[in-house]
Amino acid sequence: MEQGNVFSVLNCQVHHVGYAVHDIERAGKIFTLLNFQKESSVTKDVIRNINIQFWRNQTTLIELISILDGSQKSPVDFLFKKKCSFPGNGMPYHICYVVDGLEQTINQLKKEKFFVIQPPMQAPALENRHVAFLVHNDIGMIELLEK
Ligand code: NI
Repeated sequence: MEQGNVFSVLNCQVHHVGYAVHDIERAGKIFTLLNFQKESSVTKDVIRNINIQFWRNQTTLIELISILDGSQKSPVDFLFKKKCSFPGNGMPYHICYVVDGLEQTINQLKKEKFFVIQPPMQAPALENRHVAFLVHNDIGMIELLEK
């Protein structure tokens, strides 16, 4: 495979890996075993109907999410459907990248056939900084976080 890129490489850093789990408390116990420590308390994102908690192992941050109220819809319901199931009750489902400008980056990525599944909105678990979610057919979902 050729290495040369026809596009300009984005200035982006990995911020966290997102995990969908059924139960944050149970998952957190196991991540403790794997040398992760709590980075934050559980935040309730009522807009997206999810619980969120960040955990850190040295340089690596993970974000655990679970459904807040199972009787209500959530934009991440699809992660918990049978079709998407991993073995067990947890699954890494996105890498989040910090980028300089959200809108400019999104426009650049659209040219490379990413499509936006969640336009920029405030993330209560990340000091209300703006995040957006995009999908590319070849790599699946990514999250962008404004610097
Ligand atoms: Ni995330």
